Amino acid sequence: MDKLEKIVSLCKRRGFIYPSFDIYGGLAGFYDYGPLGLALKNNIKQLWWKQFVSTRSDMFGIDSALVTKKEVLRASGHARGFADMLIECKKCKRRFRADHLEDKKKCSVCGGVLGEARQFYMMLETHIGALEDEASLAYLRPETAQGIFTNFKNIIDSFHPILPFGIAQIGKAFRNEIAPRDFLFRLREIEQMEVEYFIRPNAWHKAFEMWKQEILKFIRTVGIDEQNISQLEIAEENRAHYSQRTVDFEFDFPFGRKELYGLAYRADYDLKNHMDASGVDLRYHHGEESEPFIPHTIEPSLGVERTVLAVLLSAYTEDDPPAGGGEEKRVMLKLNPKIAPVKIAVFPLLANKPDLITKAKEVYKILQPTTYNLQAPIAWDDNGNIGKRYRRQDEIGTPWCVTIDFQTLDDNTVTIRDRDTGSQTRHSVAELDRYFSDMLLLL
Ligand code: GAP
Repeated sequence: MDKLEKIVSLCKRRGFIYPSFDIYGGLAGFYDYGPLGLALKNNIKQLWWKQFVSTRSDMFGIDSALVTKKEVLRASGHARGFADMLIECKKCKRRFRADHLEDKKKCSVCGGVLGEARQFYMMLETHIGALEDEASLAYLRPETAQGIFTNFKNIIDSFHPILPFGIAQIGKAFRNEIAPRDFLFRLREIEQMEVEYFIRPNAWHKAFEMWKQEILKFIRTVGIDEQNISQLEIAEENRAHYSQRTVDFEFDFPFGRKELYGLAYRADYDLKNHMDASGVDLRYHHGEESEPFIPHTIEPSLGVERTVLAVLLSAYTEDDPPAGGGEEKRVMLKLNPKIAPVKIAVFPLLANKPDLITKAKEVYKILQPTTYNLQAPIAWDDNGNIGKRYRRQDEIGTPWCVTIDFQTLDDNTVTIRDRDTGSQTRHSVAELDRYFSDMLLLL
């Protein structure tokens, strides 16, 4: 099994991520989050929100509609431009991305003759109201960005911000990808963490560099292996229709070096098109100092699922079994404790000693407020021997295990075992709350 297969299997087995609708055979490009995956994803989104929005004074957070009026996506160019050139095999009817094919004449699968390249629209459509006709057509948004541009005037009118400022949101986006694949890498339903940062046109170089650094900082914070990150300047002919400069942050996935995040200079493309199409003035005017003008935009766009995948790939570790064989490999998710779905696991040393169970429950209760403040569940495990319990927690990335043993009954101390070093230290029960809060603050 390669590393990706091992992660897919771990995610399903331990309650991180399941293929959607799997009792009905699944649906390509859709995944559901189980309790641990949801906690991991929420922790990642919280870190992003903290860094990109709540600790900055120049940022406004919003949450806009997913179903999008067709006029918006016509103005943005998505209804026309959001399509890949595809080539269909005349014999087996398989479709290939034209820019991925070396031989554009012969099908690499069945040897059949390939047709002409043509466009394939990548937006998911829906209809609003009772009739399914052209008038009721709407789209599930292909990016969260358009909800930001359509709220630009609302933010100006409510908050009167001074340039530069940004509008941010985290939310779902939908793409009718022709070939969803590689687990969470290419999906049809995704979540994006996006900022549209509005600037004066002559300030775009500086803002672009600033957001580059912020993306790199986030990559480090969330625990993605920086050694596997590279930046790729996208050539003009390969850029999205709205972009005047794009840098992709790529990650070395097991299936190749691929885009993790994008940073684009969208200039005045979106606001200008929405102003033309809606007839509403979207220019910015501050005091009497200058003529009204359309601000330009820098957009850092980060996919939640690709983050989850890169985090899991960076954290997945296997220890070789000890010489002489016997034991299986130890699997560990070396997750940053800040995003680990479970922060602390509590074990009574033996499951059949009532005194130990009562004391362990007391400790478990004491730790509840700590983990509640961290918005993390606390695990309880009294099943099997201690070694097996450690392994179960290592596999889901729990940073600390607290064991209640016979000494605890005498002196009110417990052992704390550290996931990454395996070291065990004794601490008084009274100082546990403080100990874990300090550990997490230090990270
Ligand atoms: N608003 C700009 C935008 O949507 P994009 O490069 O198409 O740009 C941004 O998407 C990010 O969203 C990507 O860098 C990636 O992290 C994520 N993403 C895009 N399409 C995806 C897909 N089909 N599956 C998983 N993630 C995807």
